[in-house]
Parts: sequence; structure tokens; C-alpha cells
Amino acid sequence: MPVEVTDSRLEISHPNGSSVELLLYGANIISWKAPGKTDGAIEERLYTSPKAFLDGSKPVRGGIPVVFPFFGPPTRPEHSQLSQHGFARSEVWKFDGIVSDNADVVSVRLVFEPNDSVKAKFPAPFRLFYIVALFAHQLNTSLHVENPSETQVLTFQALLHTYIRTEVAVSTVTPLKGLTYINKLKPGLPEEVETRDEVDVKEPADFVYKLAGGDYKVVGNGKGIHVQAKGFKDVVIWNPGTDGKKMSDLAEGGWDHFICVEPGAASYWIDLSPGSTWEGQQILTVL
Ligand code: BG6
Repeated sequence: MPVEVTDSRLEISHPNGSSVELLLYGANIISWKAPGKTDGAIEERLYTSPKAFLDGSKPVRGGIPVVFPFFGPPTRPEHSQLSQHGFARSEVWKFDGIVSDNADVVSVRLVFEPNDSVKAKFPAPFRLFYIVALFAHQLNTSLHVENPSETQVLTFQALLHTYIRTEVAVSTVTPLKGLTYINKLKPGLPEEVETRDEVDVKEPADFVYKLAGGDYKVVGNGKGIHVQAKGFKDVVIWNPGTDGKKMSDLAEGGWDHFICVEPGAASYWIDLSPGSTWEGQQILTVL
């Protein structure tokens, strides 16, 4: 079967050998395996920490966590009861059916509608849909935010917190040169302009690149992933380096094996008018 559904997870398989595993908890993709374009070797393309909690007790350290309704710590009074990166990554989503199942693509849809505990902390009406489409060499994830209110604007941020598996010692992200960025490691300092042709994360990195263009390459050891984004104007590059020692769900040295490339609306807010839907999309392709 191209899609296996259990109480807590989905497994999607493509006839060419690629596959995805996703937890209904957070709609968090925890594995994407895809063949190399030249050698055909099926490899894991995302990083999920071996110490990640996969039982729904804590947001998953790895894969693709979904960030909504805000990025980072809460900064607005209406979010004061919520925790870092919002609740989408720590609520249980529902499988909402197979969208396509053919020789090119197998895709599924998930939905999250606010439950009582979310409504108590975040009363604005909304609905989230997440479409996960698996191709031979590509994984396409689309987040749809719906505002069902007839009168109220829905204000939010959203981001896909993608942990790309790559060897940090030899990996770079391009093209970011010339972009204005917020350096979250130096709070309060003015925004800076990226001067590097190739950005690496050999030192701890936590940078929010604004109006970033939506087309990035992560390359290391002659292999890589092309990250394309639509609807997400920013991209966050994050790796904690040895500060990761403080994270109970990241194993010693785990930070050497991923770069988070996170397309998102992170430095700005989206005001979604009543009755409208917004879409943010990420397309990952094996290079
Ligand atoms: C990044 C943020 O997106 O996520 C970082 O820019 C943050 O500041 C990181 O540390 C991880 O967040 P969390 O909540 O998953 O530990």
C-alpha cells in the first residue's frame, strides 16, 4: 500500500523507492528517504535526533516540525499562554485522506482544527491543512491556513523547521549573500547584511534572513538538497553547535549532522482576512 495509516503515524511509499514517515503528533515528518539522482542509493535526507521524543510528550527534535501561530518565543499578549514556536508541532493532527496516488506522486492531507485546550489559549478561529506530496526525488509540503471567521482578521506567523541531514564540517547553504538578517544570537543588535558567498554552521547559527528569495541549496560532500519555498518570504538558518549540549533530546555531536533551513514568515506577520486561505509551500529536491 502506498499509504499506511496507524493511530499515531503515516507511512507513504513511492513506486521509485522514496518514502516518508510522519507522526500525527505535530504532523511532524520524521523521515524522508529518497534515491540519489545519479547513484540511485536510497538515503535518509532529513535528520531526526536519535534522542527525539516520538511519543507525543515533547515537540520532535528533527524532521520537519510545523511552526504556527508564531515563530520563536511568544512576543504578543494574545500568545502569552503559548510556548515557543506555537502549538501546531505539539497537537495531534488528523489524517484527512489520500489526495493523489499515481506513478508520479503519492500525496496525503492532514487537518488540524482547534480543540478545547487550544481554543482556551488561542481563541481566534482557524483551520490548518497540511499536504504532503512524495515524488521520486522530491518532497513537497504545503501548509494551508484558513480563516473561517466572517469578521475577524487572523494574524499569524508560520514556518517549516526543516532539519536537512548533511555533514556540517563540509556543508554550505547558498545563495544568501546580500540578504539582510536578524542575528538571534546577538539580540538587540541592528540587522546585518550577509557578506559570505557560502554560509556554513561550523559555529552556532541562528539567523533570520529576510526577503530571502525562496531558492536555496544545501550542499556537502558532493550531495545536497535544493530547497524551494513559496509564500514564505524568510528563511531561518539554525544549528546550535555545542550549545546543543543543553538540549536533552539532542545527542552529543548530533549538531554535526544537520543544518536547519526553515522557510517561514518569521520576521513579519500575516494578516489573513475573514473567509480567506493562505498557503506556504516547501519543495525539497535531491540534487
Ligand atoms: C530555531 C530558532 O528556528 O529553532 C532558534 O531560530 C531555536 O532560536 C530553534 O533555538 C530550536 O527551537 P526549539 O524550540 O525546537 O528548541
